[in-house]
Amino acid sequence: MTQLASQSRPPRRSRRAGGEAPPSVTPEHVALIMDGNGRWARSHGIPRSEGHRAGTDNVRRIVEAFSEHGVRYLTLYAFSTENWHRPEDEVSTLLEILKEVTGREAERLHEQGVRIRHLGRLDRVSKELQKAVHDSLTLTEGNSGLTLSVALDYGGRDEILDAVRRVVSSRVPPEEVTEEVFRSFLYTNDLPDPDLIVRTGGEMRLSNFLLWQSAYAEFYSTPVYWPDFDEAEVAKALAAFAARQRRFGKLAAEQPE
Ligand code: IPE
Ligand code: IPE
Ligand code: MG
Repeated sequence: MTQLASQSRPPRRSRRAGGEAPPSVTPEHVALIMDGNGRWARSHGIPRSEGHRAGTDNVRRIVEAFSEHGVRYLTLYAFSTENWHRPEDEVSTLLEILKEVTGREAERLHEQGVRIRHLGRLDRVSKELQKAVHDSLTLTEGNSGLTLSVALDYGGRDEILDAVRRVVSSRVPPEEVTEEVFRSFLYTNDLPDPDLIVRTGGEMRLSNFLLWQSAYAEFYSTPVYWPDFDEAEVAKALAAFAARQRRFGKLAAEQPE
């Protein structure tokens, strides 16, 4: 089993085929909104649950593909705080599939040196799913390869409110609540902000994902449904990122005064 990207590796620079294109930097952190499972299932004339199954089965190849490109942090949006408002049978099937996948994939990811993180809350899911998540975190906590964060029962607004509550209960004096201090109270406290947010399924929205952290992320949306998002689509998303010019509010280097 090969080790997936090590955190000590410097950002990988790549040149496009043809050789002369300017070097491009691979994003350090990619966050994925894995959308379109239901529409994928409908397009195949099968139940939505089969779409969710195909979607979770896709996770393995996508982790490997991003890792091979040198991405060191990958965050997957698996279940939002708003997804509880779906019909009960869809919610329970989806959470059951997530439990099976977590149990099944953790060992394999561990062998690849992946460190698994959870973002969100766990108190509303079944004891079995809580255990599967906790076991995967404990198993992989010492690994130094790619960090795979799974946003499960995650909502950006919930995360910010939760952080505010903990800042208040920690009695941090108001003048000490800096950006740096505040971010240390978020679920993502030990992760860099995402450089690239990829959304499959064609929508152009964040759907309550990483609201604080995505302030300067590049956004890439593709109409491809999540179960069909493959290695070639990963390469396309990374090529689109490489062609972006990030300015963070500053003037572009070559821009005249
Ligand atoms: C994404 O697929 C999975 C989750 C939101 C949990 P959807 O189930 O949202 O699929 P569409 O958007 O209905 O096609
Ligand atoms: C976003 O997809 C949430 C996940 C992928 C887990 P949704 O399908 O829930 O988003 P909306 O409802 O189209 O905004
Ligand atoms: Mg959707």
